[in-house]
Amino acid sequence: MRGIIFTSFLDFLETELGLIGSERIIIQAELSSGGAYTTVGFYDYKELLQLITLSSPALNATPNKVSQKFGAYLFHTLAASSPQYFDGKKSCMELFEMINDVIHTEVKSLYPEANPPQIHYERVNPSTALLHYQSHRCLGDVMLGLIEGAGNYFCESLEIHRKKSNETGSKEVFTVIVLHKTKKQGARNPI
Ligand code: HEM
Repeated sequence: MRGIIFTSFLDFLETELGLIGSERIIIQAELSSGGAYTTVGFYDYKELLQLITLSSPALNATPNKVSQKFGAYLFHTLAASSPQYFDGKKSCMELFEMINDVIHTEVKSLYPEANPPQIHYERVNPSTALLHYQSHRCLGDVMLGLIEGAGNYFCESLEIHRKKSNETGSKEVFTVIVLHKTKKQGARNPI
């Protein structure tokens, strides 16, 4: 998994726990990579799961909730790092439509080692879409947080339902309904 996901997680931890609190988690994790992540490197995604599990007590949240909260944080990291995908977009739906066929496809061609999830987009009506998530990493909670992050970014109130298609969570369907704009879209919103 690309290093930007890991560096974003460490930034998230530092925001939540402060520098000392986040360092404590990294030391505790005894990661095989050593935890000195770079945005351009590649790391085993299991290290991310390890960091999520270890930070859960300090964050006073279940690992699922930590993953979800991190997903919302990650969205803003990705938006800041790849403005070309966001310029001119006014709604989540315009972005969701591009995840699979444009964004993750370009990620894959730029970084052949990357293995982004399949996120098939299906428009049901003007305000509703289904996002069919498929990944061996089973990061549906991160996916949920990313969708919430998108709602926050575009100032849209979303109703989100999720349904696992199998036991492991490697396949899930997210139903996203855009209810209304919360305010005029502007600069980055607090998460
Ligand atoms: C709402 C929008 C997005 C959603 C829902 C989404 C979903 C996800 C999820 C759930 C993952 C975790 C990996 C997994 O589940 O297997 C992921 C990974 C990733 N995403 Fe996206 N993504 C979105 C937007 C973006 C954007 C804007 C970028 C910008 C370049 C991006 C680049 C990546 C990269 C680099 C990875 C790591 C893949 C790897 O290294 O194997 N995504 N995405």
